[in-house]
Amino acid sequence: MNVLGIESSCDETAAAVVVDGRRILSSVVATQIALHRPYGGVVPELASRSHIEAIAPVVDQALAEAGLGVNDVEGVCVTQGPGLVGCLLVGFCFAKAFAFARGLPWVGVDHLSAHLHSVQLIADPPGYPLTALLASGGHTALYYLESVERQVLLGQTRDDAAGEAYDKVAKMLGLGYPGGAAIESLAAKGDPRRIAFTRPYLDKDAFDFSFSGLKTAVYRYIQTQPFAVERNAADIAAGFQAAVVEVLIHKLLLAAEDKACPRVALVGGVAANGALRLNLSRAAEAKGIQVFIPPLTLCGDNAAMIAAVGYHALKAGGVSSLDADVYSRHRV
Ligand code: KG4
Ligand code: ZN
Repeated sequence: MNVLGIESSCDETAAAVVVDGRRILSSVVATQIALHRPYGGVVPELASRSHIEAIAPVVDQALAEAGLGVNDVEGVCVTQGPGLVGCLLVGFCFAKAFAFARGLPWVGVDHLSAHLHSVQLIADPPGYPLTALLASGGHTALYYLESVERQVLLGQTRDDAAGEAYDKVAKMLGLGYPGGAAIESLAAKGDPRRIAFTRPYLDKDAFDFSFSGLKTAVYRYIQTQPFAVERNAADIAAGFQAAVVEVLIHKLLLAAEDKACPRVALVGGVAANGALRLNLSRAAEAKGIQVFIPPLTLCGDNAAMIAAVGYHALKAGGVSSLDADVYSRHRV
């Protein structure tokens, strides 16, 4: 089944064609990063308007790159939430109209489920059950995935998401927006042991996260040490990153062991971080746990993951109602 996926929950307008939930024929992502950079974060109204301009050309491009025409599309999957409502509505209404006009089945897809199951698009995908850490700009949460339909939330952040903490620390260091990749490059030049920021474990045996204390510790260090940013930016970035990476890996592997689950997945925008990918792979190997991480193109927001997870609902005969609406907050 040729499925058209559409994603517009935040600052990326994306469309993809995926066959049978597995084979990506095309995956187009139009990012708005340059539009929002001067403001240091996503401006919702600007984001919605930019989605309106981009949606039709992005879908056209996805079909063209897949070598398909509109008549070849057999089903449509679109992000329903969570996300910015004005942004979600652009993709959602486009998908509804496309499906209605062509008499196609369509389903609304949860953005977090799509990230969680995005590892199923890699060449040698994991089976279920799977313990997964979703770390992005909006979410940091641990899940036990029993199947593509069933996922159990084990724990989540009580304040900032990991990516949000990266972005805020990047701002303190004058690195611009978004800050994840910039902190990663700067950290590579620093000494992660020179400034030992406290590890934000909360309870070391629990699965919830908290990153606001670490963010404040970095802020306090910058405020109290003379010329901290001028002289020690690389060590601050390295110390901050070491603390985040250590806690994320500890909790993911603890959850896998708690569930006696032999495999883990790392997904979401922060999964693009090289230090996190490498250290997780090493730590998991030492415990005999298999690690699955999507390629960078599938870590950030994309529509291939939407088409892939939605395909299973379409195959089971699921069709969303034309009355269906988007939702802004976390549901799964
Ligand atoms: O999944 P995503 O593209 O969008 C959301 O749904 O939030 O994640 C974006 C987040 C941003 O906070 C960004 O700073 C972070 O992922 N990120 C990274 C890296 N690349 C992106 N964080 C750490 N290291 C990276 N290399
Ligand atoms: Zn996302």
